[in-house]
Amino acid sequence: MKVKERRAGGPFLFDQALSRMRGNLIVEIGAIRDGRKVAEAADGWSTKKWADTGMEVICVDTSEAALKTTKRVIGPRDNVSYYCVDGLELLRYFVRPIDLLYIDGPNPDEDGQEFARLCVWLAPMAPNSIILIDDCDFSDDGKGKTAIPLAQEMGFRLVTKGRQALLIRFDDPEFNPSDCAGIQ
Ligand SMILES: C[S@@+](CC[C@H](N)C(=O)[O-])C[C@H]1O[C@@H](n2cnc3c(N)ncnc32)[C@H](O)[C@@H]1O
Repeated sequence: MKVKERRAGGPFLFDQALSRMRGNLIVEIGAIRDGRKVAEAADGWSTKKWADTGMEVICVDTSEAALKTTKRVIGPRDNVSYYCVDGLELLRYFVRPIDLLYIDGPNPDEDGQEFARLCVWLAPMAPNSIILIDDCDFSDDGKGKTAIPLAQEMGFRLVTKGRQALLIRFDDPEFNPSDCAGIQ
């Protein structure tokens, strides 16, 4: 699936994901690479969104330049730590339960589909946690093509899908799925 075959980009689902968070640890794979103002619409500036919550944010990217840009865009934050490492390497050795995993990273027409699937497979997710996968608005679901079915097999439910796929694992009986509109 080529990037140019993308359907019209829908809104970012950052707020929808955050409003359903139960814990305090956000792991983001893929930092802000374009610090120009226009990038706020095009790229999302996801790290800023997570950082503004005050929750703990771990941001990883293979590009030193992207991490530098991200630090410049969001300014000094005590709650954000940065690692220049492959997202899969981080997740392979990560042991803390993750409350929100944001999978961005490589494009679907690079190795993004397999990358996203492996992220879902490797990530130690917390009870009632959230996986948000970027670039799913392609006719074949883009980065979500195999990652979404795997997450569903692993107990996550697809809450909504547009530009991103939002999946939640409902382990806590007190966490009523009907509170989440649009559950599939
Ligand atoms: C589209 S940009 C991320 C945009 C950002 N999340 C935002 O909303 O502004 C994708 C980033 O993923 C990074 N990336 C690509 N492959 C990666 C990998 N294997 N591990 C970690 N980061 C990766 C790229 O260097 C790039 O900075």
